[in-house]
Amino acid sequence: MKQLDAEILENRELAENYFELFLRWPEGVRVPFPGQIVSFRVESGTSPFLRRPFALASFQRETRVASIIYHVRGPATERLAQKRPGDVVDTLGPRGFYFQVEKEHRPLLVGGGVGTGPVVFAANWLASKGYEPHLILGYRTAAAFPKLELGPLVRLTVCTDDGTRGFHGTTVDFLGTLPPSDREDAFVWACGPNAMLKAVHEWSFPQGIPCKVSLEEVMACGVGACVGCTVETTDERQMVRLCTEGPVLPSEVIRWT
Ligand code: FES
Repeated sequence: MKQLDAEILENRELAENYFELFLRWPEGVRVPFPGQIVSFRVESGTSPFLRRPFALASFQRETRVASIIYHVRGPATERLAQKRPGDVVDTLGPRGFYFQVEKEHRPLLVGGGVGTGPVVFAANWLASKGYEPHLILGYRTAAAFPKLELGPLVRLTVCTDDGTRGFHGTTVDFLGTLPPSDREDAFVWACGPNAMLKAVHEWSFPQGIPCKVSLEEVMACGVGACVGCTVETTDERQMVRLCTEGPVLPSEVIRWT
């Protein structure tokens, strides 16, 4: 993990209150992988805002441009939405455990809301390795569906709660419609609201489909000191800190409540 002054290249509105922020990734900073996060100090100097973690949504090796997808839902993200090309943001990263390929070969990537970025990153990354990922994204309504850049091997299914676009229902409702041939040799990576992650776990685990999830918690210190980002686990650790032992974890390790 490194501290870097990342130059903003673009701050693009993708959908209502959803933005994608593109950053120049300096030479010498480790290449990030899907599931990893960066944390921004949104304001410098005496700002009251703590560092905010954001999951990476893309990284282009050739141009060294990275991006995050974020939702404007408070003062810090409102400030972020005001950033313009040429502005510099104090950034820590990349950090955290990332999604790693399983021995299974059929990727099912499930995301929703701010969980869109990491699974889009994962889908494009897997496609660049020759996989044919099925990306399943869920939103309340068609207006929330962001414009995305996807590789040609990525198969996209959009689900909306109100049926205004794609499949009418949740991502987990859609998973339930997959024929056995689509579940065979599958693995799941998921990111989004906790209720969705729990439902994805409850769908995949009984079928023996390996599932990894990227959890979101507020991270105050971001370095393992404040114990503010812990989740309970079913293993001997009993608890892990997402900032140092996550954010990506096997779903069966989490004590879902
Ligand atoms: S954010 Fe402080 S321990 Fe994780």
